[in-house]
Amino acid sequence: MNAITPNRQTVPAPVGLLAELTHRCPLRCPYCSNPLELDRRSGELDTATWQRVLTEAAALGVLHVHLSGGEPTARNDIVEITETCAKLGLYSNLITSGVGGALDKLQALYDVGLDHVQLSVQGVDAQNAEKIGGLKNAQPQKMAFAEKVTSLGLPLTLNSVIHRGNIHEVEGFIDLAVRLGAKRLEVAHTQYYGWAYVNRAALMPNKADVDASIRIVEAARERLKGQLVIDLVVPDYYAKYPKACAGGWGRKLMNVTPQGKVLPCHAAETISQLEFWYVTEHSLGDIWANSPAFTAYRGTDWMQEPCRSCDRREKDWGGCRCQALALAGDAAATDPACSLSPLHAKVRALAAEEAAENPPDYVYRTIGSNVRSPLKEEAPL
Ligand code: SF4
Ligand code: FES
Repeated sequence: MNAITPNRQTVPAPVGLLAELTHRCPLRCPYCSNPLELDRRSGELDTATWQRVLTEAAALGVLHVHLSGGEPTARNDIVEITETCAKLGLYSNLITSGVGGALDKLQALYDVGLDHVQLSVQGVDAQNAEKIGGLKNAQPQKMAFAEKVTSLGLPLTLNSVIHRGNIHEVEGFIDLAVRLGAKRLEVAHTQYYGWAYVNRAALMPNKADVDASIRIVEAARERLKGQLVIDLVVPDYYAKYPKACAGGWGRKLMNVTPQGKVLPCHAAETISQLEFWYVTEHSLGDIWANSPAFTAYRGTDWMQEPCRSCDRREKDWGGCRCQALALAGDAAATDPACSLSPLHAKVRALAAEEAAENPPDYVYRTIGSNVRSPLKEEAPL
């Protein structure tokens, strides 16, 4: 594996690059991981810059490129960008809604060497799915897109983000994945950053439904062994220990925004004191090794108790920095999703309280919205 030596320590090279090619998207999911202040088309990086970034990524040791957004097929140059990945030997994964121009471009993407498709599905029942995604007639387009993916022989992953509006459909998502010939299904309970944080009360399921969804997944994994792989992301607020968010800060992933800002995770901009570097001003290798945002929470030196002396600190790397900021008001605090955090009981109580109330209407994501980020305001606990 490549390794690079930044100013203070040697770190392994990143494994994955999330290329957020655009924030434009025909869907308006209320749990979107994009920031509340979406980049506009006029500020997006051009084709040549993305190709240079991909070349630097390959030289750095990156193996996987996730072509994401927004909706990445909204870019006119998506085929050229995908072809560049193939020529550089980078494994390309198209993360798509499957609507808009996605189907029209699929054959060309396949022809230039696209390796994998990850298709989002908001629900199983079309009416429910289209309410969640905020777009009428999306479901038939998604189904047609999925059928084309598998007919081309491309590996298909379905991604279902689970919340109280579709938790009753978990069994249905599994059946749908089998019916469409997907190789993998992600049953990913909502992570409460970005738009999902704004919509938390509308999305938070109750503990009994979460537990039931986990049992359904476990039974299906047994039943469908060898046919379908099911990844399960449990909801943080009900977990015992947090996940290693982004694989640990500055350890595995780089996230490049449509305007070329490089982030250690998709929600990192909510940590307002961090300084981010741009691909238009620095090489990717320099950013990975030396950018203040990447070095801020890399490793364990920055940790407070109880993480500092915990034997899991190099397993989960203290959980999620963005969630620590959102809930504890300090990005260097132990993630309150962890049962060892002094705030954990309050987080559990908050989740139970929100799940017990009637859900408010969704606040849909939209470019030009003036929704304020609660993550930049005071912590709620
Ligand atoms: Fe992970 Fe910190 Fe919790 Fe230990 S105390 S399990 S390192 S988040
Ligand atoms: Fe930023 Fe978890 S989303 S560290």
